[in-house]
Amino acid sequence: MTDRVGEVYLNGRFLPLSEAHVSVMDRGFLFGDGVYEVIPAFGGHPFRLQHHLARLRASLAAVRIASPMDEAGWRRLVNDLLDHAGAGDHSIYLQVTRGADGRRDHSYPSDLKPTVLAMSRPLTGPSPELLTKGLKACTLEDIRWARCDIKSTSLLANIMLLQQAKEAGAEDAILVRNGLALEGTASSLFIVRNGALRTPPKGPFILPGITRDLVLELAAAHGMAFEVEDITAAELADADEIWLTSSTREIVPVTFLDSTPVGQGKPGRAWNRMNAWYQDSKIRLRMGLSAC
Ligand code: PDD
Repeated sequence: MTDRVGEVYLNGRFLPLSEAHVSVMDRGFLFGDGVYEVIPAFGGHPFRLQHHLARLRASLAAVRIASPMDEAGWRRLVNDLLDHAGAGDHSIYLQVTRGADGRRDHSYPSDLKPTVLAMSRPLTGPSPELLTKGLKACTLEDIRWARCDIKSTSLLANIMLLQQAKEAGAEDAILVRNGLALEGTASSLFIVRNGALRTPPKGPFILPGITRDLVLELAAAHGMAFEVEDITAAELADADEIWLTSSTREIVPVTFLDSTPVGQGKPGRAWNRMNAWYQDSKIRLRMGLSAC
């Protein structure tokens, strides 16, 4: 149980972190040639596991890495990680790289054995301060590639953009491409405008967020008006509320955009309602009342 915290799963075995080694020829190390998932778990129950495993399958298929495990194997691994992690809330990290070759070559042989790394870390969620004050974001031109729908470990552009936002005095960036606001550096984007919640449609320029889908389901279930439509940069600047959502940060209100207050400059009414519904679905999961 807790004495095993600090271990990672690598290629079929649980190992202490200090003994978990990967070849320097691993294509994940050399090229960022791999994909990953981050799955939140509350009270030992993985949240939306089926959705996360479906997205992992889609990412693997998109980059043509054969899944090293079937669905039952992934589920077993997630549950083993949670057993090892002990009580409380955790985020589970799953990563598959194409594996190690004998040489550095852009092209790869068909017989490589993928490298599977998995680990957990305690999940604290957004701080009470963040939920009271909200987050300061800035808009930045999206410099990422044209397959942002793949959850790739190649995150250099995301890292550069987050750093650029921080150096500009913001806490995150909202990425804009061709005049459209798309998502955060590691989160999905929602706005509230003219009384309706809005998020951009799925496509090659955004990650299909699992939290995003849940927020849309909650809006539908509770009769909150919503639309899945493009958000122009001008509409973003004029929004009454802006939220960023992810598995680890949940639903975070953005209260300053490019140093200008969003709405009243504090978390809005729609966010309060949505966050309560989201927290309620976590409670139901913890109590074993929901299967998702
Ligand atoms: N990132 N968009 C991007 C670019 C992301 O990296 C993420 C999540 C999301 C939100 O997806 P989800 O709701 O499924 O977590 C959107 C994870 C948390 C990460 O990289 O750590």
